[in-house]
Amino acid sequence: MSNRTFTMIKPDAVRNGHIGNILQMINAAGFRIIAMKYLKISKQQAEKFYEVHSERPFYGELTEFMSSGPIVAAILEKDNAVADFRTLIGATNPAQAEEGTIRKKYATSLGENAVHGSDSDENAAIEGNFFFSGLERF
Ligand code: CMP
Repeated sequence: MSNRTFTMIKPDAVRNGHIGNILQMINAAGFRIIAMKYLKISKQQAEKFYEVHSERPFYGELTEFMSSGPIVAAILEKDNAVADFRTLIGATNPAQAEEGTIRKKYATSLGENAVHGSDSDENAAIEGNFFFSGLERF
């Protein structure tokens, strides 16, 4: 089990002014920030990041959305980080997310669901490496 996960606060949550509230929830849940940056990715970069979904019907919509405005990307540390973070953010579709989760509070739809959380230790490492060098981790 790894103790790190990777997250993005997505363009919808940034546009809606929820960065502060989401970071507050992440902190309150006991995650330590190892690396963090505020940036806008290109369509090509979004396509690369979400390459595993390239055959899915929503790939174009997803990569268009993720490159539509700035995001916050971060590596987080906590015991059982991947699973605990997925509990904190709630189901991918906010309509199915538990009360009190980040997506229940701040997501608007399945496509625009406020935050990303890695789905495995392996992907947490791959995704963190996509955004951050060793010099950017503390
Ligand atoms: P995320 O956890 O970032 O990983 C892949 C994303 O694809 C997911 O969150 C959703 O935002 C998005 N997604 C999944 N299913 C659909 C869908 N049917 N339509 C649009 N977007 C989707």
